Amino acid sequence: IPVQPFDLVLFGATGDLARRKILPALFHRFQIGQFDSNCRIIGSSRSDLTAEAFRSQTADAIREFGQDVETTAEEIAGFTALLDYVAVDARGETGWDAIHGKLREDAIRAFYLSVGPALFPDIARRLSETGIATPESRIVLEKPFGHDLASARGLNAALREHFEEQQIYRIDHYLGKETVQNLMALRFANSLFEPLWNSSHIDHVQITVAESIGIEGREEYYDKSGAMRDMVQNHLMQLLCLTAMEPPAHFTPNAVRDEKVKVIEALRPVAQASIARGQYRGKNGDGYRDHAGNPASRTESYIALKVEVANWRWAGTPFYLRTGKRLRERVSEIAVYFRDPPHNIFEGSGPIHGNVLVIRLQPDEGITLKTTIKDPGPGGMRLTGANLDMTFADELPESGRPQDAYERLIMDVIRGNQTLFMRGDEVEAAWAWADPIIAGWQDTGETPQPYDSGSAGPDDSLLLIHRDGRRWRSIGT
Ligand code: BG6
Repeated sequence: IPVQPFDLVLFGATGDLARRKILPALFHRFQIGQFDSNCRIIGSSRSDLTAEAFRSQTADAIREFGQDVETTAEEIAGFTALLDYVAVDARGETGWDAIHGKLREDAIRAFYLSVGPALFPDIARRLSETGIATPESRIVLEKPFGHDLASARGLNAALREHFEEQQIYRIDHYLGKETVQNLMALRFANSLFEPLWNSSHIDHVQITVAESIGIEGREEYYDKSGAMRDMVQNHLMQLLCLTAMEPPAHFTPNAVRDEKVKVIEALRPVAQASIARGQYRGKNGDGYRDHAGNPASRTESYIALKVEVANWRWAGTPFYLRTGKRLRERVSEIAVYFRDPPHNIFEGSGPIHGNVLVIRLQPDEGITLKTTIKDPGPGGMRLTGANLDMTFADELPESGRPQDAYERLIMDVIRGNQTLFMRGDEVEAAWAWADPIIAGWQDTGETPQPYDSGSAGPDDSLLLIHRDGRRWRSIGT
C-alpha cells in the first residue's frame, strides 16, 4: 500500500550508514511502488554539495550497497529525482532556513538523524526552535542512546524538551529483522507453543549473535563501548524481551512495549561469576588490541552471560546470552531448549534428543524444531534425532527477496507505527540493568580472556554453561 506523501530530511546523508543502509532501503521501497514522486528526501550534511552531486552519489550507493535484485537505470533515475540537498551546520546558523523553505505544509515530516549522538540534542532543539518540526513531525535516531543510565536519561530529557515520546523513533535495527518479527507471529499467532512457553516446559534459552567480522575501522567508538554496550544492552536485550514477554492484549506500539519493559524490570542483577568476557587475538597485528590501537585495552569483544528473568513464567529457566566478534561464523539465533519427557519408555533404544526450537535470524532466516523420531531403517525401535525445518526463502519463495531491516523500519516511521522502535523508558530500564554489570568488572579491573580469531569464543564462556550441565549450540561447523 503506498504511503502518504512525505518529506524526509536525512541528516548525515553523506555518511556511511546513509550510503550503506538508509538510501538503498528507501530506493527499494520506491522500486516496489510504496511511494512515488509525491515524496521527497532532502539530504543534509556539513559538506557543500549540489543536489546534483548528492543524486549521483546516491545512485552510486544504490549500485554498490543495494539488494541483489534487478534494477534499471530508469528506476534509479526515478528515485534520485526525488532527492534534494541542503548543507547544514548542525551547531550554527547555516542551512536551517533553506530546509524550512523546502518543506511542504501538507506532507508528513520526518527527520532522520544519521549523525553522531553528540549532535542529537542540538539538532532536536534547532528543529523545534525554528518551527521546522511541527507537532506531527517524527524524529528518528540511531543508537547509541547514551553510554549509561545517566547519559540515557539526559538524552531522553533533552529530546522531550522538543518532541513528544510518540514523535521519537529510536531504531534498534534488530527489531526490523524478519525473523525477529516472526518470533511474535510464532508465539502469538499459533496455539502450539504458548502453553509450553514457560519454566515448566522450557529448560533454558540460548541467544547467540556471533559475528565473523572484527572491529576494524570502528575502533574509536568500539573500544569505549565493548560488546556489552554495543550489542547486549540493545540487540540481545530486544531478543530476550520478545522471547520472554507476556502476550500483549493487542499488537499496538504501547501494548507491546509495555510488556517488553516488564521483562527488563524483572531481570535479576547478574553476578560477575555468571559472566565471561573475551577479547580476540590474532597473529601479525591482527588481534583486537592491534585493531583498537590500544595495547592495554580491557574492552571485551565477546561476552556471555547467564541471565535470570525473575517472574512467575520464567523462574528456574536461565537465558544464556552470548555475542562476539571474530568468531568462527556469522550466526544469530534464539534456541529454546524444552525439558526432556518425564519418563523414557524406550530404554535401550538410543537417547532421546531433547526438543529444541531454533529461530534463525541470519543467515538463512528460518525456524527449526529438533525432534526425536524412530529411525526409519530396519532394526526395530531405534531412536534418532531429526529436524522439522523451515527456511523462509524455500517455504515462501513467492514472498520475494528478504527485506532489509531498514526498509521496514523507515516505512513504519512514515506510517507512524512505533511498535518496532524502542521507547525511552525501555532504553533506560536496559541501562539500569547493564550499569552495575559493567561497574562490576570495572571495579575489579578484570581483563577479558583472550580467544583465537575464528574460534567459538573464550574457554570461560564454555565453563559458564558447562557448570550448569548444559552446552552451547555450536557456532558453525
Ligand atoms: C551494530 C553494532 O548495532 O550491529 C555492530 O554496532 C554490529 O558492532 C552490528 O556489527 C550487527 O548487525 P547485523 O545486522 O549485521 O547483525
